Amino acid sequence: MRVALLGTAAGGGFPQWNCACRMCTSDAPAREGDCIAVSADGSDWFLVNASPDIRSQILATPALAAGPGPRDTPIKGALLTDAELDHAMGLLTLRGAAGLRVHAPEAVLHALRDGFGVHGITERYAPWEWAPVPPELGGLRVSALPVSDKVPKYCADTQVPGPWVVAYRFEDPATGGVLVYAPCLRTWPEGFDEFCAGAACVLLDGTFYSAGEMSGATHAGVGSGAQRAMGHVPIAGPEGSLARIGAHRAAHPGVRWIYTHLNNTNLVLDPSSAEYHEVLAAGAEVLPDGAELVL
Ligand code: MLT
Ligand code: MN
Ligand code: ZN
Repeated sequence: MRVALLGTAAGGGFPQWNCACRMCTSDAPAREGDCIAVSADGSDWFLVNASPDIRSQILATPALAAGPGPRDTPIKGALLTDAELDHAMGLLTLRGAAGLRVHAPEAVLHALRDGFGVHGITERYAPWEWAPVPPELGGLRVSALPVSDKVPKYCADTQVPGPWVVAYRFEDPATGGVLVYAPCLRTWPEGFDEFCAGAACVLLDGTFYSAGEMSGATHAGVGSGAQRAMGHVPIAGPEGSLARIGAHRAAHPGVRWIYTHLNNTNLVLDPSSAEYHEVLAAGAEVLPDGAELVL
């Protein structure tokens, strides 16, 4: 299985256009919106999430180049972990792609159709298949773990039963390689340790380094409640993901833990920061956009 990390930033990217926080005005490397592409055979590819930056992400990834026919694309479909705009806006860019298959949990499909309206827009350009998450996709076994009940802000219809947010596990039966992709975790969810068991690599929610960083970075602009409401487990602290990774590593060494969906306020964006080095010392990683994994 090949995995392309197309983008590793949270909504807004890094730097964020309307933010002059310490990080956004630093010279830390820029990052585009979180999403990945996976392929069992290197020729048919599936996006997992579609960020607003998807056009430049596709153009920067040779494996996703159009061809061989004039309107052919190796991108056969897209899976979504959730219905948040930073994971779904790229679908608008893909309008016109013949026969694209979009897979997501039912509540996410509902939000995309009735809240965002992207379904109704794209079907005027090319009919797509919108369907629940299949057990197999292009030669990869797929399973989904419900991880959060967070409903996107734009979606008024909060009574629809979830799951609203899932993590995906992709297994290549030919190589045994397993990838877990979990960019949105409110907490370390029930069953997540088991879900990650045997994975070669886990791409993990690294939105925030600390529980209160948005209010610190933006001063009065964003209250600490707003960060909590966004529903992302911080990296640091006793309840943070780094502590859970440490516990998991004791039982299952050899898993690569890679943070993604990094918010523009997150100090690990700066490779010279103490926080970045703390993440590395604990056995986790932060990779640049465009990194590729072979599992
Ligand atoms: C999130 O990751 O929490 C969302 O993308 C935030 C948002 O765009 O409202
Ligand atoms: Mn997001
Ligand atoms: Zn910023």
